[in-house]
Amino acid sequence: DSSVVRRDRYSGGPARDFLSSMAADTHIFAADLAVDRAHVTMLAEQGIIPAETAGEIFDALEEIEAAGHEALPDGEDVHEAIETAVIERVGPEGGKMHTGRSRNDEVASCLRFQLRADLLEALDAVIAFRETLLSVAGDNLDTVMPGYTHLQPAQPTTVAHYLASYESAAARDTERLLDAYDRTNRSPLGAAALAGTPFDVDRERTAELLGFDSIVENSLDAVAGRDFLLEALSAIAGLTVTLSGLAEDLIFYANRGYITLDDDYASTSSIMPQKKNPDSLELVRATAGDAAGALQGLMTTITGLPRAYNRDLQRATPHVWEPVADITEATEVAAGAVGTLDWNEAVLEDAAGEGFSTATGIADRLAMSGLPFRTAHEIVATTAQTLESAGELDDGAPDEAATIEALAAATEATTGSELETYVDREELTALLDPAASVAARDSRGGPAPSQVEQALADARSEVEAD
Ligand code: ARG
Repeated sequence: DSSVVRRDRYSGGPARDFLSSMAADTHIFAADLAVDRAHVTMLAEQGIIPAETAGEIFDALEEIEAAGHEALPDGEDVHEAIETAVIERVGPEGGKMHTGRSRNDEVASCLRFQLRADLLEALDAVIAFRETLLSVAGDNLDTVMPGYTHLQPAQPTTVAHYLASYESAAARDTERLLDAYDRTNRSPLGAAALAGTPFDVDRERTAELLGFDSIVENSLDAVAGRDFLLEALSAIAGLTVTLSGLAEDLIFYANRGYITLDDDYASTSSIMPQKKNPDSLELVRATAGDAAGALQGLMTTITGLPRAYNRDLQRATPHVWEPVADITEATEVAAGAVGTLDWNEAVLEDAAGEGFSTATGIADRLAMSGLPFRTAHEIVATTAQTLESAGELDDGAPDEAATIEALAAATEATTGSELETYVDREELTALLDPAASVAARDSRGGPAPSQVEQALADARSEVEAD
């Protein structure tokens, strides 16, 4: 067989292992068999190869599939190895399998075929993650917790509002993954090496057989384009930004005693017997680093490549497989951790008032009585300063009586009028309560249970649609 002779001449020698992608190609073994079957079916349907030969090739492919990737003969890559294995079984007629195609359109087809499946798995995981967030949120509409800016207590919010915020981000991650899926799901098969083929191939047919939505029209573009990898990996990297933020929060919340992780999602120390560490969340957080590195690697590898196919592309793919699989797993782990942890309501409630976190509500209330918001802000800032000097902000919520007294003094000093001109003391007591503060923040998208309930209902129907 002349093709075998040529391969021996050009692919032997000390560089053989370096040239080979056999190891990484494990991931596209099944995809290559599918692409081979679709191509051979089309060739027979078009009368390009005899139906009998196609039948023999199918039988050989079945055997090769059963034997598995490890049983393949040596080859530069899985495409060559499978072809060699077909020829070993069928004889020289088996070489008709590669009519009207090249490894260039073949590998691009395999990558798209496999990535499509990987993206579907990632999407399943993200959707399940969103469902978990929504379900836990639904159970915690009234569970107040501190909301932070700069990692300092800022304003009270609720566990439901907090979790729904991550669900919103994950919904956009879903959109990006679906977009990437759409552009991945197009068939390059039939583009051959770069310039099409004189055989009367039916590209629409192989696309249909492989479940692709459409074809990549231009044959140069079809073999050279790897932007679908970039887009998929970017979507995955975006997802890790969501996951890593959540993981970081939960690690911090565990540290503060706001949550208790289920033992299944914690680890202990090999030396310190008392330790319960949030290891699984730390590993979720770290996948963002993997994704960022892989994205940089892929981008650099494919930037500046001339048209059309270059072997550099062989090294582009491994940047994608591992992060996609790892991050899908990280998404499942994050969902598991969120779904099983306990929110420690009493600790959260105490913490929600920490650091005079209801101060903005007081300023808002003074402004509602007609004071310019900036003046109200000043009065409450002075109040906070007084409380801080008195050590009231060191631990837990400031004492209520001390707060009202300081506020009264600041109001008089700033406006020359008594505090009661603007708001009576009874109402202030309510304003200082984190739960009341949350309930009052019922602007659209805010933490008031009525708002969050609506948001959760909307999000639930969107998850269902996805
Ligand atoms: N294994 C290669 C890849 O992954 C495909 C082979 C195409 N080789 C070639 N010399 N044109 O990109």
